[in-house]
This record gives sequence, structure tokens and C-alpha cells, in this order.
Amino acid sequence: MHDSEKIEAVLRYHERTKHHFDRYAPGPGELDWANQPNPFRRYEGAPLVRLPVLGPDDEPASPHYEDLYRRRLVPSMPVTVRSLSRLLQYGLAISAWKQVGATRWALRCNPSSGNLHPTESYVLIGALPGLGDTAGLYHYAPREHVLERRADHSILMYAAWMREFPAQAFLVGLSSIHWREAWKYGERAFRYCQHDAGHAIGALRIAAATLGWTAALLDGLADEAVENLLGLNRAEDFVGAEREHPVAVLAVWPTDVTGDGQTRTRHGGPARLDSALAHPLTHACWHGAANRLSRDDPVRWEVIDEVAAATRKSVGEAQSFDTLATPGVERNGVASVDGPRAGKIILQRRSLLACDGRTSMAAERFYRILARVMPRAELPATQRPMPWDTVAWDPTIHLGLFVHRVDDIVPGLYLLVRDPTKMGRLKRAMRRRFDWSTPSDCPPDLPLRMLEAGDARRLATQLSCQQDIAGDGAFSLAMIAAYQEALFAHGAWFYRRLFWEAGLIGQVLYLEAEVAGVRATGIGCFFDDPVHRVFGIEDFAFQSLYHFTVGGAVDDPRLTTLAPYGARIDEHEHEHKHDRD
Ligand SMILES: Cc1cc2nc3c(=O)[nH]c(=O)nc-3n(C[C@H](O)[C@H](O)[C@H](O)COP(=O)(O)O)c2cc1C
Repeated sequence: MHDSEKIEAVLRYHERTKHHFDRYAPGPGELDWANQPNPFRRYEGAPLVRLPVLGPDDEPASPHYEDLYRRRLVPSMPVTVRSLSRLLQYGLAISAWKQVGATRWALRCNPSSGNLHPTESYVLIGALPGLGDTAGLYHYAPREHVLERRADHSILMYAAWMREFPAQAFLVGLSSIHWREAWKYGERAFRYCQHDAGHAIGALRIAAATLGWTAALLDGLADEAVENLLGLNRAEDFVGAEREHPVAVLAVWPTDVTGDGQTRTRHGGPARLDSALAHPLTHACWHGAANRLSRDDPVRWEVIDEVAAATRKSVGEAQSFDTLATPGVERNGVASVDGPRAGKIILQRRSLLACDGRTSMAAERFYRILARVMPRAELPATQRPMPWDTVAWDPTIHLGLFVHRVDDIVPGLYLLVRDPTKMGRLKRAMRRRFDWSTPSDCPPDLPLRMLEAGDARRLATQLSCQQDIAGDGAFSLAMIAAYQEALFAHGAWFYRRLFWEAGLIGQVLYLEAEVAGVRATGIGCFFDDPVHRVFGIEDFAFQSLYHFTVGGAVDDPRLTTLAPYGARIDEHEHEHKHDRD
């Protein structure tokens, strides 16, 4: 396919997977419950390494949540089995089981559309006591919190791959099983797989921050290299099993390793893996075979295969944003702040199922949440605040806000311009009669504008597929991406990254809501073009890709909560006190 054909395929996919007031994107209609894919992949026959299940007070202990956002405040833990276990626990592990009657399901630290969890994860790491005496690729199995050893690599080969990376650096790979989402959502599922990948990237970055580690997406890798690295192209290991699509590989390393306040690649430039991984890793010794996830073969959604092919990043397109240098402010004189521990917030994160329609939020808190999703686009990517240092492209997403219940802020439609240099372009693209005034007590460095005052509760609910949670919270929002420009500037492969950025924003909002004593929920179901009409968007310059709501949660009393890897949890211990400043 030529570049223009690929972009056309993406535009076509995006159009046909829009929900309209009178017609939803094509889906399966009835759900085939007997054929529901298993959310837990295992590689049968692969040697297992049991990871320690760490309690809240076990080492490495969690820093305060607020400290995660204060550059280099959290001391770097050495890479050990325990710290690796913490990374995976706070990033991707089960956080609780929920039960109603005889039905029980797992929730994880990373959320997922429909709780279907298409994302699989891998660790490629050198020899480590308690893990392996040679380098290896491991698949992470969250249900048991174990690593399955998929491949043995020689220490020399691993060292050669990693020679450009900081000392102790290792890799975390992600893949996606589209069928898990398509089973329920049909054609729109490819979007949700990408949102979920973005959430997983965010969850891993934030988990790394609890250990004083950095994580950076290696966007210079072609998808084929990701497949080679993670063994996804080994047809012999997937006989009768659903295949995984490559997502991304992140490099993770203790931020302080060079000890001079700087972490840089050995030669000072961007680190790359590509050339060594252009071929399948046939020299490795591979273990295990993937399990089958559903009874029957996956239902084929041709447009998903088509958009997956069109958005594949080929070797020629492996344009690199990779840079690993992370110059930081010295820790000296910066004191830790009080508040809940990051681990507690991460483990208690849940989607709200219903909003109380009452709880409001202090303006100061609202502004602080918005400040947290500002990527500081004016800085070089590696100097941006966590987690925006993980992805190196210039931010593409702005927030169209439906403000319902924020004290001292006039309800209505607002816009947070995450890249202030795009203010003019957004003004030109949106409705002429909008106000563009700055709320009176808005922090001067926060590019928030009021577009229109008014009660947007019904509108927000209506636009989010009639879901009350969008109108009953303190505020909800539409993530509006500079869609066409990003696709034309980078290529069709960037389509997936737009959703990753949206998922990353969502992950920050989820945790910020927990800290504020409220709750959040990602909303993948919304009526695309009606949303655009509300903002006056008439062409493809901007498109809404993801919705979100934040508000006071109403819990379902029928649900019992059980601990992730053992006894019962008392939910109240995990509830954060309503602290509205
Ligand atoms: C991409 C995405 C889209 C979602 N869309 C909706 C939605 O439209 N409506 C809703 O009620 N929940 C939605 N959710 C919330 C999920 O149902 C929820 O994350 C999942 O059930 C797991 O629960 P947890 O977030 O409490 O771990 C969405 C979540 C994600 C990540």
C-alpha cells in the first residue's frame, strides 16, 4: 500500500466506526457469551517465575503520590525481582476481584474498555538473581502475577542490543489481541484496543515513577521489530491460538543510574534497537505455546484487519522520536510532600459506574487536575513532566470540557489547549460565536478558555451515548485531536498513537480523580459527529477520540470486593476520605 492509500484506509475506518444518533458502528448485535475470549493469556509449557506479591508496606515502599510529579524526588530503586514485581503490580496487575452471586471478575490497575483487556505484556531483561541466569523474554501473566519465560537470550547478545541504553535498562513490550474487544464491540474495537494500550503505557510509566525509574517509548522501532522481539510472529507457538498484534516497546531504567544528575545514552544521542531486530530471533531458545482464548475461531472483522495493516509501522517509516536523555533538577532541598501513597491510589483506582449528580469540586482542585494533563509542549520531550516524557511526539490532543459542578466556575463548555501554540488553529476550527474568555481565577499558565456558559449536563449525557455518567459528574470532557494534521505529518501509523495519547491522558485523570476523593470513567461510546457539531468542527482538522467523566461515585451495593491475590479486602480501607481542599 502507498502512503496515501494507507491514510485513506485510516480515514475510511474512522468514518465507518463513528456512532451516529440513528445508527451505531457495525457490531455483533447479540453477544455470543459461549465464545467470550479469555482475558488471560498463558504460554503453556513455558518455565514460570513466581513474582513476590508485595503488600503496601513491603519494600520497595511506595512514595507519596504527589512526589511522583516532582522531578527526581523519588530515589531510584535498583532493578531486582522485587522492584520488577512492583513495576508490574502497579502497572498491570489485578487490583481486586469483584463478585455478584456466583459471578466473579478481575479488575486491574490498567483499565480496559468493557473490562476485556486486549493488552498483553512482556519483559526483556538481562540476567537477574531470582529471575534467570541468562537474559530472557518473559510474558507477564497478571492473574497469577507470574512471569512465563518465553525465550532465553545469550547475555552477550542482550548486552549488544542494549549497549546504547543506560545501565540497568530493560524493555517492556506490549501487544494487543483485537479479538478480545471485537467480540463485544465489532468494528469500533480497534479504537478501544489503542485506548487501552495508551492506558497501559501510562500505568507503566506511573508505576516506574514510584520506583524512581523512567520509561520511554521506543518509537523508532518498526512493528516488525516489535514482533521479532516479543515472538509474536512465531506461528508455531500460536497453533489454534489467537494472534497478538505488536503495540510498542518501552525502555525502563532507574533514573539516577549515571549518578551525575543526568541519564543519557552512552553516546549521548537517541538509543535505537532497530537494526539488530530486523530478523526473527531464531538463535534464541523459545518456550511455551499460547493458549486458545475462545471456543470458536475469532469472528473476522475485515475493516479491523485493514486498518491494522494500514497503521502498521514499517521499517522505512520507523521515524524516530526516541531520545533517552533526562536532565533533571537536583533533588537537594526539595522536600517530600504529605498525602496518600502512590501505591494506594493506584490500587484503589476504579471506574465509577454511576455518579451521584451532587458532588462538586473546588475550583483549585479542578485547575490542579487540568495542570496535570498539561504536557509542557514547549519543552523538549525528555524534559516534559511525567508521564508526558514517555512519548516524544508533540501533543495532539486538547480537552473540550463540559463543566457541570465546579465551585465558583460558571457551568458550560470550556477548552483546555494542551499545546498553546495551537490556540489560533482551534479558534479558526471552532464555532465563531464562542467566547474564548479566561475564567477569572484561572492560573495564568493554564490555557483554559470558556467557550459558552450554560447547563451542559443533558448535552454531555446525550453525546456520550446517553450515558448519565457524562452529565451527573463534576465535569466530563471530549479529547479533541489535531487529527488530519497529525496523520499527514507523520503517516497512517500515527493513527494508533493518537489513541495512545488519549489513553495516557485518561490514566492521569483516573488517578487524579482518586486523589481528589472522587472517581472517573473512560467513555469510548460517544456520538462522534454530534460532538463535533457542538464545538463547531466541520472538517477533519480536529476529531474527538475519547470521552471521560469525573465525579462523585455511587457504588453498587451488590458487589463484593475481594483481594487481588488472596483474602477479602475491606473496601472502606481503600476509600480515600472526601478531601475537597
Ligand atoms: C477505552 C475505554 C473506554 C471505556 N468506555 C466506557 C463507556 O463508554 N462507558 C462506561 O461506563 N465505561 C467505560 N469504560 C470503563 C470500563 O468499563 C472499565 O475500565 C472496566 O470495566 C474496568 O473497570 P475499572 O476501570 O474499574 O478497572 C471504558 C474504559 C476504557 C479504558
